[in-house]
Amino acid sequence: MLDAQKQAQLLHLAQDILKDTHSLTNEQLVQSLRAIIRLADWKYYVASESLLTDYEYDFLYKHLLKIETEHPELLSPDSPTQRVAQGLSERAATIKHLVPMLSLENTYNADDLRAWHQRCLSILGIEQIEYCIEPKYDGASISLVYEHNRLKQAATRGDGIQGEDISINAKQIKSVPLFINLEANGIEQIEIRGEVVMNKENFKNLNTQREKEGLSLLANPRNAASGSLRILDPQEVAQRKLSAIFYHISYVQHSHNATQHQAIHSHKEALENLYQWGLPSPAKELKLFTDIEALIQYCEAFESQRDLLPYEIDGLVIKVNRFDQQEAMGMTAHHPRWAVAYKFKARQSSSKLLDVIFQVGRTGSITPVAKIEPVLIGGATISSVSLFNEENVREKDLKIGDTVLVERAGDVIPYIVKSLPEARLGTERTIQFPSHCPICQQELEKPEEEAVWRCINIDCPAQVVERMIHFCSKDAMDIRGMGIANVQKFYELGIINNIADLYKINWDKVASLEGFKEKSIQNLKTAIEQSKQQELYRLLFGLGIRHIGETTAKNLSRAIQNLEALYTWGENDYLALEDFGPKMAKSLVHFFSLDENKKLLQELKSLGLNFENLQKEKLSEGNLQGNTFLFTGTLSKMKRSEAEKLVEQLGGQILSGVSSKLHYLVCGEDAGSKLEKAKKLGNIQILNEQEFLDLIQQA
Ligand code: IVH
Repeated sequence: MLDAQKQAQLLHLAQDILKDTHSLTNEQLVQSLRAIIRLADWKYYVASESLLTDYEYDFLYKHLLKIETEHPELLSPDSPTQRVAQGLSERAATIKHLVPMLSLENTYNADDLRAWHQRCLSILGIEQIEYCIEPKYDGASISLVYEHNRLKQAATRGDGIQGEDISINAKQIKSVPLFINLEANGIEQIEIRGEVVMNKENFKNLNTQREKEGLSLLANPRNAASGSLRILDPQEVAQRKLSAIFYHISYVQHSHNATQHQAIHSHKEALENLYQWGLPSPAKELKLFTDIEALIQYCEAFESQRDLLPYEIDGLVIKVNRFDQQEAMGMTAHHPRWAVAYKFKARQSSSKLLDVIFQVGRTGSITPVAKIEPVLIGGATISSVSLFNEENVREKDLKIGDTVLVERAGDVIPYIVKSLPEARLGTERTIQFPSHCPICQQELEKPEEEAVWRCINIDCPAQVVERMIHFCSKDAMDIRGMGIANVQKFYELGIINNIADLYKINWDKVASLEGFKEKSIQNLKTAIEQSKQQELYRLLFGLGIRHIGETTAKNLSRAIQNLEALYTWGENDYLALEDFGPKMAKSLVHFFSLDENKKLLQELKSLGLNFENLQKEKLSEGNLQGNTFLFTGTLSKMKRSEAEKLVEQLGGQILSGVSSKLHYLVCGEDAGSKLEKAKKLGNIQILNEQEFLDLIQQA
């Protein structure tokens, strides 16, 4: 393969071509594009890594194709456009696919889809086509061959003509049947295509496990799935709990003596057959459309739901339903003409790490934050990315000036997946960690058991502001209009210096500020006034006591009549409560022992804030009172947060982990280590989702 310097140059050149800031002749451009695409193919298919996003890759590939079409004299048989893909890992034995394993053409928006639809109509010479839509699973493609009812072999996609033999590992995937009674349908041999995926929860658990074992973290479920198929120990593959979904029958050979066999006429029927044979398929999710505009609307609406699925999808696949029409349309060397992918907005993009700044959090934690060249990912422009802590920076070997891969997925905050050392030019700089607080200059400390450095000056202006922002936030006192910007502004102008000041604002001063009209001031005043009556747990959580999250604050507020009771509580009082550990108990005792905190609370009380547990009586009527619950795995009928809310409304309590204090563990699909632990402990009732619903029906 190319040496590191050459790879770096190619990646920089790719960015120049993408931004159209290059000055190459057509001939040079063709040579460069071929080299870039070869490098990206090799990385993707052999090393399971992405150098370019799909969008970037497609753009470069199409650019090459366009120049070659316009200038046939530049065409060469070794161009990547002249074959499906390149490269096969040399480790494993290879298997020739019965039918080449093609890829899909990509579309990115409504206009692309309309253009594709027009092409389909004109190839078939008709006015209306029935299309099927199903998810585009973001995993590793797999091809299975069944012969005489038995799974004969499984292969990766490889170069499309032949793939790696992964028969042994595929047999570790529970959803891949080893036997299907196909001969009953007159089928002697069949080749079936699908995708191996790792669901999001299993992926998270795998990374947690790897972190504990000091192993490098896997970038995303796709890499985890494709890497898992290649590991040498089948038992380890089994532990990874992979799933597979099948969406295409590429070849069928009927037995000579078959008297009758059920012919399949459409994609829909094919999926239904797969499903009946015991192979997971999108038969149930599949949607049919004849109206292209309705189809487009469905595609656009589906994108917002992608995070609700238990596994990753990167788009939808649209296929002409009728097989006779598919056959008439045929395929190119690269993709079938009767199918197209509608790709969702990319969640990864490469960018440049420009600088690192150090932010001081509410509890004094110092967080390195990367400033990156702005990139558009999943519809949002990202220019700042948290680097979490020093260890993360060291582990990923990040340097200022690096080309980095940034990901933003659903509810996950954007993060740097990795740097691309291939793109280094030698001018990159090491990231220096500060020894003193960048805001108040206090010397930083790093408690032994913690991963972060801290500023221990509780009057540090950065901490004061962060505490106020947290106090006003949605999950705490929920003071609408007092967001980050206003808190910062009011603090800088000396209007508020601590939490209590929020209730003593000099409104004349606010009225003199630009952007504050009578109406917005009135709204803000009302929001602040209303917050005085918020439930007790919100105040407890809003105080920002270390280790006290929202759930703990709820549990604690339920155990008391009045906040003042806590002034005299010792560690054992807290430990006697369910789901309280020593760290939390220590932190609470410490918080209520400090004079400045006592003073603050007295002031908040005299300002009229609610210190009483108003919920107490109401909750004790709930029929789950005294029972503790924990949810694990993926629920199918509701979100986990909704189920937790239901339990709390009925007076039950949510615990954060499996312990002897747990009464009920509710298991969704693919419940993992929590279920194992609960079984070991023995006296915990294990419910499935339906049993849980039955239980609350009775409650
Ligand atoms: S159909 C001839 N359907 O996406 C059949 N592919 O980017 C071509 N993929 O190589 C494939 N979900 O690995 C098809 N529902 C789906 C799919 C799907 C994921 C993968 C497949 C393909 C790749 C193309």
